[in-house]
Amino acid sequence: MTEVIIVKDEQEAGELYGRCVADLITKNPQAVLGLATGSSPLAAYKALAKIVHDEDIDVSHVRDFALDEYLGLPITHPQSYHSTIERTVVEPLGLDPALVHVPGDVINGAPLSDGRIIQEAGPAYDRAIEEAGGIDVQILGIGTDGHVGFNEPGSSLASGTRVKTLAEQTRIDNARFFGDDVNAVPTHCITQGIGTILKARHLVLLAFGEGKADAIAHTVEGGVSAFCPASALQLHPHATVIVDEAAASKL
Ligand code: GLP
Repeated sequence: MTEVIIVKDEQEAGELYGRCVADLITKNPQAVLGLATGSSPLAAYKALAKIVHDEDIDVSHVRDFALDEYLGLPITHPQSYHSTIERTVVEPLGLDPALVHVPGDVINGAPLSDGRIIQEAGPAYDRAIEEAGGIDVQILGIGTDGHVGFNEPGSSLASGTRVKTLAEQTRIDNARFFGDDVNAVPTHCITQGIGTILKARHLVLLAFGEGKADAIAHTVEGGVSAFCPASALQLHPHATVIVDEAAASKL
């Protein structure tokens, strides 16, 4: 069952997420958070950081798993998702970096020619999530083509974490982070699979702006289909979609 909440703006959405996660951490200081990059979750991280600081909530034991990562970028590259998560979540919240996992960390430190490392990294990441007891709240953005994480249209709805090639449209969309040079955008990534994402106990998908309206309409009201990977949220018992009026305009 997908719950849809229409809010005024990103700040209001962020406050809903922030309250929900702050309450979770208060109840369970070792909560496991699923983190995402992209612009959509930024206000949510800010709101959570504000609540954590205002209410002096202890986050030192919170464990975190990122959704995806580019391949072929050093983890210290400013656009690697490792760096992005550090900048936008870990530092502002004051999380323990030793408890933050990013799926590319194993691969991006190893020679890309090593096929075994590439094959093993996905299943090892899924095992690490399971060993942590599973993700409590997974925050998600959505691509204009309905992708979540880097699960592009056509991805198996049962997929686990794995290495993928990036769709041309996603590389074009993300060129803005690489000096508008699409050739500088990596061609490969590692992403939690749709099956991995569906195992999280609560999914919170955030989308703002008219550009996301088609993807949101398909996600919430279209048939469940690999052509819109986010539509798999309909299979989840506790999925919350928080959107502004513009992103909700085709519902
Ligand atoms: C990238 C990320 C996704 C993100 C999407 C949308 O492709 N891999 O996780 O949801 O961008 O980004 P934005 O929120 O900036 O629109």
